[in-house]
Amino acid sequence: MQIKSAKFYLSSQKEKDCPKTIMPEYAFIGRSNVGKSSLINMITNQNKLAKTSSTPGKTQLINHFLINNSWHIVDLPGYGYAKTSKSNKKHFQKSITDYFKHRKQLVSAFILIDVRHSPLKIDLDFILWLATNKIPFSIIFTKTDKLTKTEIDNKLLNYKKELEKNWEILPEIFLSSSKKHSGKEDILNYIDKINQSII
Ligand code: GTP
Ligand code: MG
Repeated sequence: MQIKSAKFYLSSQKEKDCPKTIMPEYAFIGRSNVGKSSLINMITNQNKLAKTSSTPGKTQLINHFLINNSWHIVDLPGYGYAKTSKSNKKHFQKSITDYFKHRKQLVSAFILIDVRHSPLKIDLDFILWLATNKIPFSIIFTKTDKLTKTEIDNKLLNYKKELEKNWEILPEIFLSSSKKHSGKEDILNYIDKINQSII
């Protein structure tokens, strides 16, 4: 799929304030600093569409971006960001879970996981929570530029083994590096396929 246009559309504090349009949307979620905003910029060929930062906790709102005037990409705050106050954390957590529970326009979520990490409880719990709530998702392993091909293969194998403890069928898995601009085609083709069946 060609990205012909990608524009900022709306920032919302909570699900209730999100756009009322009925366009399909794809949400990017994962731990703080995993590279959600960078990936959105990379796949839309932009530098500053989504705000990025080397310090975790940059994205604090539910951000909608309008793509090709027909669908939305949604950049969400990261989960598991420890350096914020307890009440703030609760607020983030609630805005994220509300979004996933209630947002009818959501077609599928991408859970981003740093390819260098071994399976973390917080990610596995979130994956389980999405599955329990019947929210379609796939996984993107990010920052592949930081490892060698062999290291990536080992990490993937290890992660799949962990997932296989709970699931017979694994979700779609993608690899990406925003630094090296890799993974874009696979992710966009996947979205395009779904869009073609619904738009
Ligand atoms: P929050 O909004 O805080 O939840 O973070 P985020 O998940 O949106 O992460 P963001 O895109 O802001 O990136 C966090 C840091 O990781 C930045 O310093 C990025 O430059 C870096 N980064 C993101 N993607 C990659 C990648 O593919 N490779 C490398 N080497 N660094 C990356
Ligand atoms: Mg972000």
